[in-house]
Amino acid sequence: MSVLTVDVATEDIHYPLKIQKGLLNQLAEEIKSVYKNKKIAIVTDQNVYHYYGEQVVTQLTDAGFEIEMIILEPGEQAKSMENLQAIFSRLIAFGLSRSDLMIALGGGVIGDLAGFAAASYLRGIDFVQVPTTLLAQVDSSVGGKVAIDLPEGKNLVGAFYHPKLVIIDPEVLTTLADSTFNDGMAEVIKYGCIHDAQFFNQLKGYQTRAEVMADIEDVIAICCTIKRDLVQSDEKDTSERMLLNFGHTVGHAIEAYYHYEKYTHGQAISIGMVAINRLTEALGLSENGSTAAIEAILKQYQLPTELTVVSDYKYILPLIKNDKKNIQNALFVVVLDAIGSSRTMAAPVDFFSPLLKGHES
Ligand SMILES: NC(=O)c1ccc[n+]([C@@H]2O[C@H](COP(=O)([O-])OP(=O)(O)OC[C@H]3O[C@@H](n4cnc5c(N)ncnc54)[C@H](O)[C@@H]3O)[C@@H](O)[C@H]2O)c1
Ligand SMILES: [Zn+2]
Repeated sequence: MSVLTVDVATEDIHYPLKIQKGLLNQLAEEIKSVYKNKKIAIVTDQNVYHYYGEQVVTQLTDAGFEIEMIILEPGEQAKSMENLQAIFSRLIAFGLSRSDLMIALGGGVIGDLAGFAAASYLRGIDFVQVPTTLLAQVDSSVGGKVAIDLPEGKNLVGAFYHPKLVIIDPEVLTTLADSTFNDGMAEVIKYGCIHDAQFFNQLKGYQTRAEVMADIEDVIAICCTIKRDLVQSDEKDTSERMLLNFGHTVGHAIEAYYHYEKYTHGQAISIGMVAINRLTEALGLSENGSTAAIEAILKQYQLPTELTVVSDYKYILPLIKNDKKNIQNALFVVVLDAIGSSRTMAAPVDFFSPLLKGHES
């Protein structure tokens, strides 16, 4: 088993992140190590419940816990104010007290929603993350950001709220659709790009999903370590943590322009990583050939590396300019000096304009 400890020293927050194939079978024991009461509310979605619900409920009930299972419809639309309210009502009816526990069992959607419910119910109750997608295991379950969406936009209401424990069982990834697995691979590749050339090469070496799965504990541990280290040095997302946004400025604008329907998050940041690096390589800021290397590895995982309609950048670029992270007319972009080495740089708001010009003729 790999055990990482997340330490947010400024807030005296310390908790373990445990990674091991088959760990879900030891969930009850793991929960007992951090929780002494009886009542547990579990938030999950229908897909995850279908595969793992009974196993989890039986195990925890047999161990003496009293379980309330809250099963939501899958998909981003679950991260809503309506569901938050519905969860609160179920928790009250169940009699969940300030000293009881919530478990988030699912992908990033469930982690974000249940995490925010835990952060705000009775001014905050303990929660445990059991992430079940690759994206959630390497990204959303680490770092303490929890949120819901508003009709006006994604993640507009949320908190920084850390779990007591993160339980990562990579075996649950076997039931993921290929596209959802590859979506997570986009973030995995991002970690190689921003921080670890050797890891990037390791990822290049895998030919199939099965080959990735053979090393998956190691792959997840490397990603979580990089994110943990960046988060610890900058919990509130003002400097170091911004490196995690490599490819995300363009990616977020792409997702938003197509109303989160045409491209998944992983696909959008895949296009975004290639786009930003193409610009910085042309400016001589990134190593020659780095864009081609990034494109090649993303294609290995069936991820798109360019918009299907490149002229749509004329609508997407204005969204980048309006990004809430812009400060005094400057954008913060993540520049790879080379694969495995990155820094942030302030850039003018029209920094991305060549993405369109390059394709106009
Ligand atoms: N908090 C953060 O730091 C952070 C970081 C990145 C992303 N996010 C959020 O994460 C969300 C996306 O997360 P996601 O990609 O995990 O999506 P998701 O939670 O919607 O899961 C994707 C799909 O996989 C299904 N699924 C989950 N686990 C499964 C399993 N083991 N077997 C079979 N099917 C399974 C789900 O039902 C869903 O249909 C977004 O809302 C995003 O904003 C948060
Ligand atoms: Zn991301």
